[in-house]
Amino acid sequence: MPQIALAPMEGVVDYPLRNLLTRLGGIDSCVTEFVRVTDQTLPRKVFARLCPELLSVVDVSRTPAGTPVAVQLLGGKPEWVARNGRKAAQLGAAAVDINFGCPAKTVNKHDGGACLLQTPERVYDVIKATRDLVPQTTPVTAKVRLGYLDRSPYLDIAHAAAEAGANRLTVHARSKADGYRPPAYWDCVGHINSAVDMPVVVNGDIWTVADYHRARSESGCSDVMIGRGLLSCPDLARQIKASLAGEDYIPLSWLAVAQLVREHYEVSKPLFPKKYLGNRLKQWLAHLKRHYPGAQVFFDSVKTLRTEAAIDACFDTLLGPYIAQSPAD
Ligand SMILES: Cc1cc2nc3c(=O)[nH]c(=O)nc-3n(C[C@H](O)[C@H](O)[C@H](O)COP(=O)(O)O)c2cc1C
Repeated sequence: MPQIALAPMEGVVDYPLRNLLTRLGGIDSCVTEFVRVTDQTLPRKVFARLCPELLSVVDVSRTPAGTPVAVQLLGGKPEWVARNGRKAAQLGAAAVDINFGCPAKTVNKHDGGACLLQTPERVYDVIKATRDLVPQTTPVTAKVRLGYLDRSPYLDIAHAAAEAGANRLTVHARSKADGYRPPAYWDCVGHINSAVDMPVVVNGDIWTVADYHRARSESGCSDVMIGRGLLSCPDLARQIKASLAGEDYIPLSWLAVAQLVREHYEVSKPLFPKKYLGNRLKQWLAHLKRHYPGAQVFFDSVKTLRTEAAIDACFDTLLGPYIAQSPAD
């Protein structure tokens, strides 16, 4: 069965959201927000903060729904990425993923993320050192873009990852300079897929079931990774799997999604400092409004609210009438 991975998204796709989205079904694996590596082996608590699934005594490095979670590292120093990869593996990480795609200025300034794509030898060095140090039982995977200033080096980057021994390569089908501007160049991922002897996963701009089928046919990849598409339409993976199985599936209503949003908000309350509490809620709503008009109304109402009491009241006002009408009452 073709696999669907939930993309890592710093500041949005956290433990509560992974829990909730994987519970809806259709998602086969997840990746954490990136752990930034400089020149030390980070303590367990840093890994556990971004990947609380590592603390699970039942099924380590899996969401409560049982979906494996890879720990993502970001850094440009091979030795330290490798050591932290080994630490993540010792803590039970389902896989160690290395980020070569992050376009953020602050990250690139500190020599991590997409800026390494400018020198494929450095991509090789980081992956090779990590693959050599992490036990073979733990996959070492990489996530790249097609290039930095332009898309021309994508084959060199892919060959570097393959020769370094990466167990899988996820390709966000754009250069760093492309940012998030459509289109995603799924055909370039297809060239990579034909050129290397390593599983390749296509990523970028899969918003609908139709996009999913097009991305797979243009890239020739069996597996995909989806980020914003799953945030805007939380049961997209479920819809895709139903389409693959030829089954009928009724997509989630806005009411059902709004209840999930509230659950996510409540679960997140104890996990983040109060002053940041509304931020992740607003981020998720900003994605949901692409798909659900109701999310736009909700987003407009909460976007300027700062206090827990005000956000709680907003939920009550907006969801109260829906919940009063719901058959569960
Ligand atoms: C807000 C945001 C945060 C992201 N954080 C990460 C990250 O921590 N690690 C990573 O490899 N990619 C990160 N990405 C990139 C996504 O994983 C993905 O490659 C990109 O959004 C394209 O896929 P999509 O069109 O399915 O969203 C981030 C993207 C966004 C929009």
